[in-house]
Formats: sequence, structure tokens, C-alpha cells
Amino acid sequence: MPGFELFSDLERKEVNDVLDNGVLMRYGFDGMRKGHWKAKELESELAKTFDVNHVQLLSSGTAAVSVALASAGVGAGDEVIMPTFTFVASFEAIMMLGAIPVLVDIDDTLTLDPKAVEAAITSKTKAVMVVQMCGSMGNMDALRQVCDNHNLIFVEDACQAIGGTYKGKPLGTIADVGCFSFDFVKTITCGEGGAVVTNNKEYYINADNYSDHGHDHEGSDRGAETHPFLGYNFRISELNAAVGLAQVRRLPDFIAIQKRNYTIIRNTLTKVAGVSFRTVPNGGEESYAFLNFFLPDLDAARNVSKAFKDNGIDVCFHYYDNNWHYIRKWDHLKDLKSLFPISKEVKEGLEYLQTKTFEQSDGYIARNISCLIKLSWTEDEVKQRAEKMADCINKVCN
Ligand SMILES: Cc1ncc(COP(=O)(O)O)c(C=O)c1O
Repeated sequence: MPGFELFSDLERKEVNDVLDNGVLMRYGFDGMRKGHWKAKELESELAKTFDVNHVQLLSSGTAAVSVALASAGVGAGDEVIMPTFTFVASFEAIMMLGAIPVLVDIDDTLTLDPKAVEAAITSKTKAVMVVQMCGSMGNMDALRQVCDNHNLIFVEDACQAIGGTYKGKPLGTIADVGCFSFDFVKTITCGEGGAVVTNNKEYYINADNYSDHGHDHEGSDRGAETHPFLGYNFRISELNAAVGLAQVRRLPDFIAIQKRNYTIIRNTLTKVAGVSFRTVPNGGEESYAFLNFFLPDLDAARNVSKAFKDNGIDVCFHYYDNNWHYIRKWDHLKDLKSLFPISKEVKEGLEYLQTKTFEQSDGYIARNISCLIKLSWTEDEVKQRAEKMADCINKVCN
């Protein structure tokens, strides 16, 4: 991450095509477009790249998660199981549908512990959402088994893991429905954007219609289209899609750079006493967007995090003390601060957040540091950075 570091004439050419014809809307205006359909082209390119039957582009990754759930029929009062370590978007996307986020512990993969998922299932559970955090993945076979045993929809938020694979399949395409984000800091960026990917035709048609006011997209007269059901506007613009189109064609190059940079740092940190790494399930290959490692305890992680900052080592996150990605600091969600009234059912469904503790998750996140891997670093810069990181850890821990 992130693709914006390497913007080039390729992105500029795609954007200029859109500006030249003046059509920023992804649907309609056929006569004016001079044959340019950037959103449609990006959907085809993503389907080809990720070997998946259907792709629906959307305005953001958050929209993608919400639309994915809606397209599978998740709604009012349904419980959706999600991990304690993710981005607030997971919680928000479930809430948007009037459904209830049920947070459960993570394991050493840094996402859903299948045993914790099993223990959280109730008669209201409708879906299980694995979040492939920081470029890696959960125990997909075990999670699939739990979903199949209980007839639950399996959703995959691969917003942070584009380019990773599990048993040869791209992350995002393994569960029943998957999600990508193309926001500004992702490996492939559209500025803002997201996608739902699925091999389920019904989910795809639902996502396509729902994300554009319920339009059925039949024929070429937008005003004459019918609306099979209620929808909203989660459309992406042609300008955003144009940037993504150039970027997705560069994905193999971006992943190769991430892998080189990740490997240099990992090989250096492997030699440092006290450092261990997250578990990547057998058959999995990370996207190398982040390097995640564990230190012996919370104090060590806090002190190393401070030493990194003091020594100019940026983009390394200790999520235990960070407001974005871990339940511990999500006070606005625990206290259900909302601009508008929340349904009684959801309020009651979330009461558990006032008292429930997540010791197992704390055990991992307290000791974890996640280092973002940049594309713009030169090999020499990465080597120097890795040595500095090793020095900091050695000074604090050894
Ligand atoms: C795991 C995860 N899910 C969803 C999202 C939401 O994506 P967006 O920022 O495109 O709305 C993010 C964004 O960082 C994310 O990290």
C-alpha cells in the first residue's frame, strides 16, 4: 500500500479520456461517451484479474460491505459476527442495515477465531464476516465449515488484502461474497471506491440494482428502467473508476514491490530476539501490504512504538492504543452515540458491548505492531529502515 505513490501517465491517460468526453456518470449518456465506460471496464478487468464471475463497483469499501450484506438479504435485527480487530467501517456497514454487529475474538491470524465464531452463534445469526486484516487472512476452511454447519452467509472483507491468496484463490473471492476498498491509501486506489465480488449471480444483480436506486439497468433508457426493489446511491464516478483502471493493470508490479520490501524487513527482524510473526494459514500468501509482528508484552510494544516514532520510522501502528482499528478505543460505538434514534432491537442487541471483555484479542493486539509497506521505498531505504527497526527493538527488549 498505497498505489497513489506511483501515479503515472497511465492513470493520467484514463482520467483524460473521461474529461475529454465530459461524462462523469457511469450509467447512460451513451452518445456522448466516445466509447468510454471506465466503471464497466474496471469491473471486467477486476473479474479477469481475480477470476470471479461478477464485480459491482461502488463508491467506497464501506459501501461495498453494506451492499454485500444487503445483497445477501441481511437486514433489520439480523446478527452479523465480525472480529474485534478491523476498521470501524465493518461495524458501520452492519448498522446501516439495521442489523446487529456481534464482535468476537481474533486468533493468531489476527482475524476471526473459528471457535469464538461458533460460540457466538444464536438463532438470530445471519452472516459471518471475516476481515482479512493487514494483507493476510483467517482460517478460511474452518470458518467456511462453521458457516456451512449453521447455514450462515460467509462474507469476506478483503479491503486491506487485495492481491493476497489462499490455496491459489484470490482473497475476496473465497467466501460467498467479498469486498474490496480502493480508497486513497489502498494498494490499488480510485481516490474513493470499492467493489463487491461474487460468483453468486443473484447477489450480483441485487448489488447492481441496490447501489443505484433500485434501477434494473435493462435497456438504454434510464428513465424507462423499472425498479424491482428499494435502493440507494452507492455509485462510483467515471473519474474515480478511470484511476482504478490504470492501477489494477499495475497490481502484479505493486505486489512484487511490496513483497520485496516486506521480505527485506522480515528477514532482518527474524534475527531479533523477542520478535515473532502473525500466523498465515497453510496455503495462504499475504499481499505483503503490511508486516505484522508480535513483541513479548504490552510494555515492549508501547516502548518500541515510541522508539520507532522518535527515530523517524513512520507508518508502524500499535493498534492497541489507536482509535481506528480495535474495539478497545471505540467508545462512540460502545456508547452507541448516534445522530438519530437507533431501534430498540439494535440497542438491546448491543448492550453486551458495555460489559464484554476480549482478553484473547487483547493478548494479540497489545503485543502487535503493524508496519505498512510502502511502494515508493528504494531497496537501500528499506534496508536502512529494517536495520533501524532492529536497533530500536534490541534497545528496548534485549
Ligand atoms: C478492513 C476494512 N474494511 C472496510 C474499509 C472501508 O473502506 P473505505 O475507506 O473505502 O470506505 C476499510 C478502510 O480502510 C478497511 O480497512
